[in-house]
Amino acid sequence: MTHNPPPAPPSAQLRARILQCVRDYAENLATAPAFVPGETPIPPSGKVLGAQELAYAVDAVLDGWLTAGRFNAAFEEKLARFLDAGFALSCNSGSSANLLAVSALCSPLLGERALQPDDEIITAAAGFPTTVNPILQNRLTPVFVDSAPPGYNPAPEAIEAAIGPRSRAIILAHTLGNPFAAEEIRAIADKHRLWLIEDCCDALGSTHRGKKTGTFGHIATLSFYPAHHITMGEGGALVTSDPALKRAAESLRDWGRDCHCAPGRDNTCGRRFRGQWNKLPAGYDHKYVYAHAGYNLKITDIQAAIGLAQLERLQDFIAARKKNFAILARALSGTERFLQLPQAAPDSDPAWFGFPLTLEAEAAARRPDLLDHLDRRKIGVRPLFAGNLTRQPYMQGRDYRVSGTLAGADRIMNSSFWIGLYPGLTEDMLAYSARCLREFFGLEA
Ligand SMILES: Cc1ncc(COP(=O)(O)O)c(C=O)c1O
Repeated sequence: MTHNPPPAPPSAQLRARILQCVRDYAENLATAPAFVPGETPIPPSGKVLGAQELAYAVDAVLDGWLTAGRFNAAFEEKLARFLDAGFALSCNSGSSANLLAVSALCSPLLGERALQPDDEIITAAAGFPTTVNPILQNRLTPVFVDSAPPGYNPAPEAIEAAIGPRSRAIILAHTLGNPFAAEEIRAIADKHRLWLIEDCCDALGSTHRGKKTGTFGHIATLSFYPAHHITMGEGGALVTSDPALKRAAESLRDWGRDCHCAPGRDNTCGRRFRGQWNKLPAGYDHKYVYAHAGYNLKITDIQAAIGLAQLERLQDFIAARKKNFAILARALSGTERFLQLPQAAPDSDPAWFGFPLTLEAEAAARRPDLLDHLDRRKIGVRPLFAGNLTRQPYMQGRDYRVSGTLAGADRIMNSSFWIGLYPGLTEDMLAYSARCLREFFGLEA
């Protein structure tokens, strides 16, 4: 005898209808207007959203849970699996992920390996400010090393030469998706007993010697701002396989609390009213015991839902970034008299964030004219973030050390810029970007 399944309750039927409407709405939006050269903007970066992102987000809204819940759990698990890591902790930005990473290294949970005020962290002078700011925010001292085109990452020898008696850690970004020499730098970190944080905000899916970036360091960080490989609007994550680092980062993310119950859950340890913490009354509610001077850097389940849908498409996004890089590289070959083209690090396969270019010596003075030429044709351009960070207004008067010279970082600040290759750009758009660059230098298209 066969049984028909019981009918779904009215609320479940309504939810299914709503989600179908959302998918239909998204499918209707899917066709982009035709590209008109010189009129249609070609942004340097952007998001690519589809029906799944909108349907998951609405599903999360309909749950009514709002704070990190089932979508966040699924997102963290999938991300940890992608990076072969024990743990992934979502947070509200890549900057927050870096703050959590550096702050976790200062946690008393690490015992004698915890960083102390005035300890040094070695980092690159050219890059994004919030790779470096958590060093200052934790009253530690940055030690800047140089980097230069065409790789835009510091050399392992420069990192090793920067190590001093107070150096305790290295934090480096894989610049614009191009991996730094992660294997060599991890070996240097191990040799000198330094922690290594990989800022992978621009490098989700890049590989070095066949291993994903984010799997070499003690901690990796990610950003899910719309410019990045996947997005949830605002968001980030910290990834680690070290249980002590995970515990410290989770506590710091969640107000500094000692308890590690998921939002809305109580007493997962079974000892909520049974603990004793030195100066606290016996049995003080563990949910309100604070082990760190923490923050609240959590995300909502709506953000996680969008992130989960994006993670399901990550392989396609990575492939599109690589393909778009190859299109630009091909279309710009022969411009080397004027432009230094980007070069992937040896033994690496970058999922590029952008396409960096550096003007050769005699062309460098023409950068403002070139950027203006591109801007007037609606081609988005960006500098390599802060350029030489030591020149930024907020760094003046601060304590830092420079190892060697920062001539390369100055060259990046004065002569480099990058154009877009994100998956939302079409071959026509990429060809037009390259054509306009060639045109500026009087080269045949
Ligand atoms: C290398 C790097 N680190 C950190 C960040 C900060 O990420 P968020 O914007 O999510 O704070 C960015 C932002 O683009 C970045 O490029």
